[in-house]
Amino acid sequence: MKILLLGKNGQVGWELQRSLAPLGELTALDRHSEPCGDLSRPERLADTVRALRPDVIVNAAAHTAVDKAESEVDLARTLNATAPAALAQAAAETGAWLVHYSSDYVFDGSGQQPWQEDDATGPLGVYGQTKLEGEQAIGTSGCKHLIFRTSWVYAARGGNFARTMLRLAQERERLTVIDDQRGAPTGADLIADVTAHAIRAALQQPALSGLYHLVASGETSWHGYASHAIACARESRPDLAWKVDEIARVPTSAFPTPAKRPLNSRLNTHKLQQAFGLTLPHWQRGVDRLLAEIL
Ligand SMILES: NC(=O)c1ccc[n+]([C@@H]2O[C@H](COP(=O)([O-])OP(=O)(O)OC[C@H]3O[C@@H](n4cnc5c(N)ncnc54)[C@H](OP(=O)(O)O)[C@@H]3O)[C@@H](O)[C@H]2O)c1
Repeated sequence: MKILLLGKNGQVGWELQRSLAPLGELTALDRHSEPCGDLSRPERLADTVRALRPDVIVNAAAHTAVDKAESEVDLARTLNATAPAALAQAAAETGAWLVHYSSDYVFDGSGQQPWQEDDATGPLGVYGQTKLEGEQAIGTSGCKHLIFRTSWVYAARGGNFARTMLRLAQERERLTVIDDQRGAPTGADLIADVTAHAIRAALQQPALSGLYHLVASGETSWHGYASHAIACARESRPDLAWKVDEIARVPTSAFPTPAKRPLNSRLNTHKLQQAFGLTLPHWQRGVDRLLAEIL
């Protein structure tokens, strides 16, 4: 089996290089690669698919800078909607599967219930809007596809929220962390592992083609996430110079940003767990593992 991976160096892309490797012959590209893996050039991206004729295309690349997207509307739309549409078109022509990632930001963040796949969307900003357009283009293209909406992604590699909180906890006595946004921190490693399982299942059972929510189980706020990470880190590394003695809860309005954030980012994962026979672990297990790796 031939697999084409785009966005190989992102949080999810990096983990996909590991999880997809045993499935077949993997070609992993980034925006500088030859053949073209640049999402800002959708036509050339489609040529790459026609030339390589992969059985599965996995697109982990995207315009993920949520605030920057507000002032880079055309670029965000090209990367998040036009390029996935071109990939979907090429996938439909060549019979390839297209695996793609989307976001909790397609919803308006209202209510308290975990969103289901077919709930009404209502993006609050450019990033969410363009991610939604990407989903819709794939859905109507006629290609076999798996679209995974995820949220609050972290990875051990590079910067992440937990690492920032641990640094601040050693620099400041008082931290203020947003407490009115709810979701599930989800490891890039979990997303990559589920993707590999899902591809194997979908190749056997094409009727699995569709849109799924993929996040760790349980839920928390950014405040809950930070408090958990700092408490665990203090316990395992009492030797570090911890300064923090208060982690204050603040509303989203305490940190104004160009893009509005959804308050309710809870995603219901029942469909994915049922369809693929998978169990999504609690978010704390993934974060504990992350801490063990970075501390
Ligand atoms: N991060 C989150 O919290 C989150 C939440 C919900 C959904 N998602 C979705 O999950 C997927 C994976 O996200 P992630 O967290 O792994 O994102 P990420 O770490 O920001 O990675 C995105 C990748 O896209 C690449 N990219 C940017 N512009 C490109 C271009 N023109 N051509 C080719 N590649 C380009 C980036 O390359 P460079 O490194 O060269 O810039 C980067 O490697 C995305 O679809 C995202 O929308 C993410």
